[in-house]
Amino acid sequence: MLFESYLNYDIEAALFLTLLWGTSAVLVARRPRHRSDRRGRRRATFMLVLVALGWLGVAARVVTTLLMGSFGYLFVADRVAVALPLVILPALAVLVLAVPRWRAHRRNPSAETRLATFAPQAVVPFQATALGALAGFVTAIMVTMGPPQLIPILTVYVSFLTILVGLWLWQQHRYLVAERGGPVQRTRPVRALRAVAVATGFVLLLVGGLSLAANETVLPGRMNMTDHAHGGVSAAGAHGHSAGRTVSVADLTGPRSETPDRRFTLVAEAKKLRLASGREVDAWLFNGQSPGPELRVKRGELIEVTVHNKVPDTNVSVHWHGVDVPNAEDGVAGVTQNAIQPGGTHVYRFRPDEVGTHWYHSHQQSSVQVKKGLFGPLIIEPEQSDLAPGTQDLIISTHTWYEDELPLEPPAIGTVDQLDRRRTTPGTPVRLRLINTDGATHRYSLTGTPFTVVAIDGNPINEPTEVADRQIVIGGGGRYDLEFTMPAQPVRLTELRRFGKELRVVDGGLLLSADGTGDVRPDKPQEAFDPTTYGSPLPTPFGRDSKFTKTHSLVFDNELWFYDGKFTVVWASNGMAFPKAPSLTVREGDLVKVRFANRSHFDHPMHLHGHHVLVLSRNGKPATGSPLWLDTVNVEVGEIWEVAFKADNPGLWMDHCHNLDHAAAGMMSHVIYEGVTTPYEVGHDTPNKLE
Ligand code: C2O
Ligand code: CU
Repeated sequence: MLFESYLNYDIEAALFLTLLWGTSAVLVARRPRHRSDRRGRRRATFMLVLVALGWLGVAARVVTTLLMGSFGYLFVADRVAVALPLVILPALAVLVLAVPRWRAHRRNPSAETRLATFAPQAVVPFQATALGALAGFVTAIMVTMGPPQLIPILTVYVSFLTILVGLWLWQQHRYLVAERGGPVQRTRPVRALRAVAVATGFVLLLVGGLSLAANETVLPGRMNMTDHAHGGVSAAGAHGHSAGRTVSVADLTGPRSETPDRRFTLVAEAKKLRLASGREVDAWLFNGQSPGPELRVKRGELIEVTVHNKVPDTNVSVHWHGVDVPNAEDGVAGVTQNAIQPGGTHVYRFRPDEVGTHWYHSHQQSSVQVKKGLFGPLIIEPEQSDLAPGTQDLIISTHTWYEDELPLEPPAIGTVDQLDRRRTTPGTPVRLRLINTDGATHRYSLTGTPFTVVAIDGNPINEPTEVADRQIVIGGGGRYDLEFTMPAQPVRLTELRRFGKELRVVDGGLLLSADGTGDVRPDKPQEAFDPTTYGSPLPTPFGRDSKFTKTHSLVFDNELWFYDGKFTVVWASNGMAFPKAPSLTVREGDLVKVRFANRSHFDHPMHLHGHHVLVLSRNGKPATGSPLWLDTVNVEVGEIWEVAFKADNPGLWMDHCHNLDHAAAGMMSHVIYEGVTTPYEVGHDTPNKLE
């Protein structure tokens, strides 16, 4: 929250700088006209005051940069490389070149000293500072930059210098004219015409530039995820096909010929869904229900899921969130398969290895389809059950339903959009499998009993200890398994929401008691549970001291810019939105370190398909608890996470924010294995809508 204020100050400082230096640049470029000494002196004083204020702005931006930088250098690396030098250097030139002339004019307000302030070396530094300040503002909120990269930086500097040369020549011309005897006396109509022409030119340039920029973001009608010509910058540098061998995604299937141990059928259809409160929503359901049927299997079993699509006019697919399936079973429309058309069928087969609480959901236009209900729980049990005998095993998936695009409050547990009361005999072991099927982060408080966190994203925690007085914070797509023994008094799971500094209890939630009645007043723990220091360590195949083949740093921003041709809030990684957001090319066997820095105003639950990442550090502090293997890393505002993964599952894998609205507005990219190709395409002109 502190970070967010600093970020806001930084943007305000950038705006303030632009306005101040913009004003002085306009004033200083006014044709000199000597009226009286008094006015000359006043003007000089005014300009000097403006310079002082401008420098105050510069100092403010330096301070906001330092404040943001105290959260991690990654947050300000681009500021240090571009925004600050572009304003500090020209502002110094103002001090050295222009200020002495204005002081001279103040001492002796003659026509000559005034003319001296009109020389290019006195005027252009002001214009340069204004331009630099503007660049600093634009790169803070419109076209953001990630960790400094040569080409974008060079582009900024070269354009900056080119404009300066133009300004210099123009000012030189104006200066010579002024020197030769002041402004040419133009008649009124000519002056008016000139003004109109200049204004029209300016507007045309602006409109033209913006529509070019808008056009440039229009998504292609069809694109292939391995086609780098359509964007997808390779972070690995050269994208070599040196191996020569290529394999198609379509061939990276699960076991196709063996007999499955378990068979399931999922039928997607459009139906009205009645919530516990009586409200009805237009939903898309699996087998007539949402959450869809619970798929519960044992690790290592061969699973076959046949999906039929009966949703009219809508294609669907199914992705197994949390299971590192073979690529062709991953369910990503346009990348690993063609979406299932109405009346169509698709069969998925895989042998899950990842025990725990997972979920499945549509991965065709998921920002719409998951919201509408195409998801369900997927529980993978170890060979020997990890539940104490008699455990009450509850799947608690939090979901926000929508009516006419508007979210219904409170978020529901399944379809229960009010307090969900259940009976639990005191003394019973309880497992709560919390699944966040929304995009936004949910913070929970569990009142009435201490508990342990036994698994995160399905992964068992080694030696969990008792937790009390902590919020459980789950990012979009994430899962937490909590355990406790039912006490005599009721237990309540509640969502908390932050309003500024205040925590408020959200209606709804879950109440367990012996007879299903009663209530407890929800606790409001101020501090959040920290998964990186919980439980005890175990050996891991790699860690912070490993040698990594690649390091991939991503800075997340929200921009006010164009996406798919429309002006909107864009969610950018290193200043780029899909399909230009930086993809990562890997080779099988690579050990990759990924750094996420969240400089935006919203949490980003980053989900890499096909792999689990091991958390190395959070906000510079090494992870010291039980090894934390995640499929969804919730990077909160102002946070920096370092994670690592082993490239051991060849394919084309999505890597995106699981706030699916963010993904749909740019926040998705891919991990691409060298030599893997896909026959599928995405885009408006294909059956596949990635988002
Ligand atoms: Cu749970 Cu790419 O998604
Ligand atoms: Cu996001």
